[in-house]
Amino acid sequence: MKALILVGGFGTRLRPLTLSVPKPLVDFANKPMILHQIEALKAVGVTEVVLAINYQPEVMLNFLKEFEAKLGITITCSQETEPLGTAGPLALARDKLLDESGEPFFVLNSDVISEYPFKEIIEFHKAHGGEASIMVTKVDEPSKYGVVVMEESTGQVDKFVEKPKLFVGNKINAGIYLLNPSVLDRIELRPTSIEKEVFPKIAAEKKLYAMVLPGFWMDIGQPRDYITGLRLYLDSLRKKASTKLATGSHIVGNVLVHETAKIGEGCLIGPDVAIGPGCVVESGVRLSRCTVMRGVRIKKHACISSSIIGWHSTVGQWARVENMTILGEDVHVCDEIYSNGGVVLPHKEIKSSILKPEIVM
Ligand code: GDD
Ligand code: MG
Repeated sequence: MKALILVGGFGTRLRPLTLSVPKPLVDFANKPMILHQIEALKAVGVTEVVLAINYQPEVMLNFLKEFEAKLGITITCSQETEPLGTAGPLALARDKLLDESGEPFFVLNSDVISEYPFKEIIEFHKAHGGEASIMVTKVDEPSKYGVVVMEESTGQVDKFVEKPKLFVGNKINAGIYLLNPSVLDRIELRPTSIEKEVFPKIAAEKKLYAMVLPGFWMDIGQPRDYITGLRLYLDSLRKKASTKLATGSHIVGNVLVHETAKIGEGCLIGPDVAIGPGCVVESGVRLSRCTVMRGVRIKKHACISSSIIGWHSTVGQWARVENMTILGEDVHVCDEIYSNGGVVLPHKEIKSSILKPEIVM
């Protein structure tokens, strides 16, 4: 089987992290978002992944070459010369997606995290015999997503409305599709949206089916959702593979610590924390609801909550970093600084406190 991952878009909502790498390479729970997806695809027998990309393909491919060999999966790029939206890239990659098998292929948004129930969607797709299957999930705030109105018993989709202004329902498109090759005949090679132009038409012909995704789901393309996503991911890890989580008297709730990270004496860590490779957390540090990426140093008695600390940054002694502070790559927060929701661009040194949420250029 084949899969196409939509990796275009500039990831502006996840700046400053996406100023350093394309969004799919931003670490989530200690590995790039896209690796979570590729590993899950491999596990259900996908042999070839096409990355539909519209900028920085070299960065992406160089990085993924290493994993191609490790995972035994072919990864190729389909590069747009102008952004083609969420459907145009499928037309561009048409020849890569079609083969003699006539099998359906996966299409994924690159910024969604879940247990990736790919096996379940394959079975569902076979059973209904329609042209396309999509996964849906319930959310409280459906207006920022694609909303799906479906028949509960069969899953047949009556209506697909992208980002509705008025309430039509609370089941939303989870960005995970399994499509028959014939869907490609519906898509022209031009900038076009699968959500606005393709799904509504297939639904009108009663050939679009939706399945409620089992387990958790989150679009982690925005900082607040990213932090919530980590909590859901770690909850799920607790149920499925709890041995991967850290234990000890200094740990509260679900915490992921990379084996190469060092934690000092007298720290209190958790809940919902991920500490990446090569990090050094000095003594007496308090961490909760945060992600600390590769190569970060957190000095003595610093306190970090509800924040993301980008690669190779340092947080000084007695510093207090909280309320959706996002430090880009290689940021240095001096001793005793307070950051209340600061969004700090890469390579900055923070010498005075950030008292209210703001962008620090
Ligand atoms: N190759 C390519 N080219 N990819 C693109 C382009 C493009 O021009 N534009 C967006 N993408 C990719 C993004 O990188 C992302 O993986 C995916 O397409 C969806 O784009 P987002 O910008 O993240 O869309 P969204 O989050 O507002 O909405 C989408 O996702 C929701 C679920 O998270 C829609 O599919 C909604 O219907 C859905 O509910
Ligand atoms: Mg998104």
